[in-house]
Amino acid sequence: MADEPLVLGIETSCDETGVGIVRGTTLLADAIASSVDEHARFGGVVPEVASRAHLEAMVPTIERALKEAGVSARDLDGISVTAGPGLAGALLVGVSAAKAYAYALGKPLYGVNHLASHICVDQLEHGPLPEPTMALLVSGGHSSLLLSSDITSDVRPMGATIDDAAGEAFDKIARVLDLGFPGGPVIDRYAKEGDPGAIAFPRGLTGPRDAAYDFSFSGLKTSVARWIEAKRAAGEDVPVRDVAASFQEAVVDVLTRKAVRACRDEGVDHLMIGGGVAANSRLRVLAQERCEAAGIRLRVPRPKLCTDNGAMVAALGAEMVARGRAASDWDLSADSSLPVTDTHVPGSSHAHSHSPSPSPASSSHSHSHDHVHEVSKDNLYS
Ligand code: KG4
Ligand code: ZN
Repeated sequence: MADEPLVLGIETSCDETGVGIVRGTTLLADAIASSVDEHARFGGVVPEVASRAHLEAMVPTIERALKEAGVSARDLDGISVTAGPGLAGALLVGVSAAKAYAYALGKPLYGVNHLASHICVDQLEHGPLPEPTMALLVSGGHSSLLLSSDITSDVRPMGATIDDAAGEAFDKIARVLDLGFPGGPVIDRYAKEGDPGAIAFPRGLTGPRDAAYDFSFSGLKTSVARWIEAKRAAGEDVPVRDVAASFQEAVVDVLTRKAVRACRDEGVDHLMIGGGVAANSRLRVLAQERCEAAGIRLRVPRPKLCTDNGAMVAALGAEMVARGRAASDWDLSADSSLPVTDTHVPGSSHAHSHSPSPSPASSSHSHSHDHVHEVSKDNLYS
């Protein structure tokens, strides 16, 4: 184990300042500071508030992680950081901090993809990822089906939401029901006491001619909101538990159905589920049932590793080091719309190097913005 790479990872794509330290696939520290309480009264993440909170939390969170892991920064084999996708200003704080530490310590810097990190984190819980692995990523900012044959270099988008992310739908319905923010955990709780079959809410994009692996939650959201409005207009009580259970069932039914179908169609026998919505108790149960019936092995990390954290970024960084992937250049920039296919942002010198040299190469790079590109989490301006 001592010869496995020791990597510190920094995550600041949304409202959590996460700093994780791993040795290979072993988790040593997972320090987190969240600004979620500061956003709660706005009902969504306010980018400027998040950036400022990252700035204040960065150094203390790094120090806390080093202490928790019982390692010295001098012993690190590399520093990884979320380069995108996410909120531009928030990402910039993480990238700047990672550069400063890497440069001062003389360590290689790895700018990595947030979505690939959400998949790679499962190595800390269940060991090396099978190749290939199908991943269902469901959070406040993304809902995608991704197929990866090598998490450091090959992530293929199978499908994604064409409108709202799954977690965003939970948050919006919770707002309509006056249950607060974030909505996922509270809807999960109310749903436990409700009847999932009480109201037949629509299953988006499940018709025979619809894209097999894409998702849509905005029709569902509107349908639930109208149903609630009609009850209120008629002066009747809204059965919150039944609405929560029926709405949740519509979401997890579609997610699991499409994930299992993608595995079957591609002949992949391992499915991992990550992102904040993977903490949903009904999603975990239904996914297990359907995977078992289809002969698919399900891997879901514990909830703390599903939501945004630094350990996932460290996990992917360690894998980059282990596989000899090129480090990033010092002009690494944050890219709020980094495509999912860019698992990392290698520097212009593609050789395996333990000390990335400053590069004159331009940091601007073009990439296609296909339909699977998604912006980050629900915020005030969306
Ligand atoms: O991964 P995450 O922490 O941040 C993003 O990258 O978005 O995911 C947060 C999302 C929120 O929308 C939240 O409502 C949802 O995950 N969530 C849940 C549950 N716990 C968190 N959704 C459904 N059920 C849950 N138990
Ligand atoms: Zn995330």
